[in-house]
Amino acid sequence: MINTIDKRAVVLISGGGSNLQALIDAVKSKELKLIISAVISNVDSAKGLNKAQKADIPTSCIKHNEFSERINYDRALLKEIEKYKPDYIVLAGFMRILTPYFINQYQGLIINIHPSLLPKFPGLNTHQKAIDNKEKWHGCTVHIVTEDLDGGPPIIQAKIPIKKDDDSFTLSSRVLKREHKIYKKALQLLISGELEYKNKDIWLNQKKLTGPIEMLF
Ligand code: GRF
Repeated sequence: MINTIDKRAVVLISGGGSNLQALIDAVKSKELKLIISAVISNVDSAKGLNKAQKADIPTSCIKHNEFSERINYDRALLKEIEKYKPDYIVLAGFMRILTPYFINQYQGLIINIHPSLLPKFPGLNTHQKAIDNKEKWHGCTVHIVTEDLDGGPPIIQAKIPIKKDDDSFTLSSRVLKREHKIYKKALQLLISGELEYKNKDIWLNQKKLTGPIEMLF
């Protein structure tokens, strides 16, 4: 039987940390059987660091602006992460593009949440892009991180309709609520072994997925 108790994650953040808080809450309620070993930010003012400290999670900050080369930043970040020997690296609003060097050290073990229905709207300003593109639907995606920016295999998506009077603020706040629900779900599926990433595909209960699991709310 797979041991679901001991999996450990380091969470990387850059900002408010509402996704981090949702994960902390899910760990507390035992919905997510994960140990958050540390939270690391690239910005020392990230509010998420206080959220971690309140939950007695070790925190550190490796400031990206102290490194002129991206690869040197990633090496320093890896060195900090390795102290905790995590099974997973969870990106929760971490606003940095990771180098292939970093990604290759934890192949298939870095997970991200992105605020769009990937492959639509990778990168930034996804909510405005969805509105400008006159999309009917928008949402968020949990995916495995590969060298392809926001292009790794998707695990779960949550889809919501765009309302006529939505602006990027109203839309982002509705999407964020869904992010908080699907991230913990995706991580628990991975940790429990129900969901696996192998040969560049996602498998759910030994069946290869042809697309992300869709969660409706
Ligand atoms: C979320 O929308 C996440 O998908 C994106 O950045 C935002 C971070 O929010 N990558 P928070 O820091 O978790 O509140």
